[in-house]
Amino acid sequence: MDPRPIGMFDSGVGGLTVLHECLVTLPEEDFIYLGDNGRFPYGSRTAGEIRDFAGQIASHLLALDVKLLVVACNSATAAALPWLQERLDAAIVGAVFPESEAAVQITRNRRVGVMATEATIASGSYRRALTDLDAGLDVFSQPCPRLASMIQNGDVSSPAMIEIVKGYAAPLKAAGVDTVILGCTHYPLVTPMLKRILGRDVTLVSPAQEIARLVAATLRRKGAQNRTGREGRYSFLCTGDVESFVEVGARFLQMPFENVSKVEISGLERMGVA
Ligand code: DGL
Repeated sequence: MDPRPIGMFDSGVGGLTVLHECLVTLPEEDFIYLGDNGRFPYGSRTAGEIRDFAGQIASHLLALDVKLLVVACNSATAAALPWLQERLDAAIVGAVFPESEAAVQITRNRRVGVMATEATIASGSYRRALTDLDAGLDVFSQPCPRLASMIQNGDVSSPAMIEIVKGYAAPLKAAGVDTVILGCTHYPLVTPMLKRILGRDVTLVSPAQEIARLVAATLRRKGAQNRTGREGRYSFLCTGDVESFVEVGARFLQMPFENVSKVEISGLERMGVA
């Protein structure tokens, strides 16, 4: 048993989809969530920049004595997960691999689409993870440069947004994929829209559900779960505007955001990983 909290971070509110699935799966655990909304978006940044940010945040959360660090952001996973794991003496899990494993298990026609930020697609992480698992898979990668920002700003239904998403989905539909990985933790927040646009025959793979499974399995196998039957606590940190973080976060997560503190970016910048 390990009563310490789990630390989790994203560039903004997207990782809250991962937190939500973790709260459903692991209601007895405590969580500290950090949204780096002051430096959002990550998806249009270079791998080096994202690595620096991820290193600072990981150091900050590990200093709060978390038992497991969850990179609840695909762009940060793609740029920084192995880099963090090599440098930090901590259990660290992230995205990409868990969704890839699920997609390879789900697909019947071995044609898999990936929707993700520009940074994640450019890293080639999904293509590598998917073809490591099934070398004969056809992978169709679709960068969606504007989608996370629209969701982060609270736009989940404007006609303009739907047209943009239809444009992102069109090449995947034309390619005949039967499985699409939502390769950004913001995207599960618009699952109903994506389902309508991609159609009933396409199975969507959510990073939130797959990461939550990985978190649960990791705690179980390490014997690091909290005491069952207790009610977990959660607190939030953000680096940007607290009010908009609370507003959008509470709306998406449908829970009160009472325990929110601001972390100064200047303080984080002093924390990086050596
Ligand atoms: N939620 C982040 C991800 O999973 C991306 C959003 C962004 O910062 O561009 O990639």
